[in-house]
Amino acid sequence: MMRRACKITAAARALAGEMVRPGVTTKEIDKAVHDFIVSQGATPSFLNYSGYPASACISVNQTVIHGIPDSRVLNEGDIVSVDVGAYFGGFHGDCAATFACGEISPEAQKLIDVTKQSFFEGIKFARQGNRVSDIGHAVQEYVEANGFSVVRDFIGHGVGANLHEEPEVPNFGKPGRGPRLIKGMTIAVEPMVNMGTHMVRVLRDGWTTVTADGKLSAHYENTVLITDGEPEILTVTEGL
Ligand code: MF3
Ligand code: CO
Repeated sequence: MMRRACKITAAARALAGEMVRPGVTTKEIDKAVHDFIVSQGATPSFLNYSGYPASACISVNQTVIHGIPDSRVLNEGDIVSVDVGAYFGGFHGDCAATFACGEISPEAQKLIDVTKQSFFEGIKFARQGNRVSDIGHAVQEYVEANGFSVVRDFIGHGVGANLHEEPEVPNFGKPGRGPRLIKGMTIAVEPMVNMGTHMVRVLRDGWTTVTADGKLSAHYENTVLITDGEPEILTVTEGL
């Protein structure tokens, strides 16, 4: 059930990514995500979660996470983070990615690429016997070596029967801390990477989280299964 929830979630992310182009509103993308998840017999995990009013979080440019879809029209050069969750058979999937809207600057493309690669650097350590903070340490080292910063105020998490479960999965810190990873655990690893300062602030809507300096931010997330060997990314579209 969790594998299926994750595949639906990944397919919703892919659908959203294909819709990112100049002229589209974030609300249109949210509606497509919502309708797709429901068409699969699943429920959007985020809708009404702590009062969140949509099925996707769509975070443009300096918005880091939790952008609320609205009538905003995407423009050429925007970078657009889409975060989705689907609940199926009693379990959640959770994943995100940042997409380019038309032609974007080389710096913006580097931010997207470094953010995605930092996830893969992190999950090299997502192995039975390691500790949770080994993941975040690797993420932070890679991001900072590339001249960017890692958000501290929001972190990854366990995911399963609940969208947010233990353990906390920060994208920063010293290695060798936190709970030990054991096969069968499912965690959402989700680096949020800023071009400038790591500091963020939440707007008065209580959700929209933006960089403190107004510079760009990117996000990349997958739900990952710990095994006794290589970690397995569950939020993949193959086999849906
Ligand atoms: N992927 C995000 C997370 O892991 C999205 C949650 S948005 C919310 O927390 F609306 F559900 F809160
Ligand atoms: Co998450």
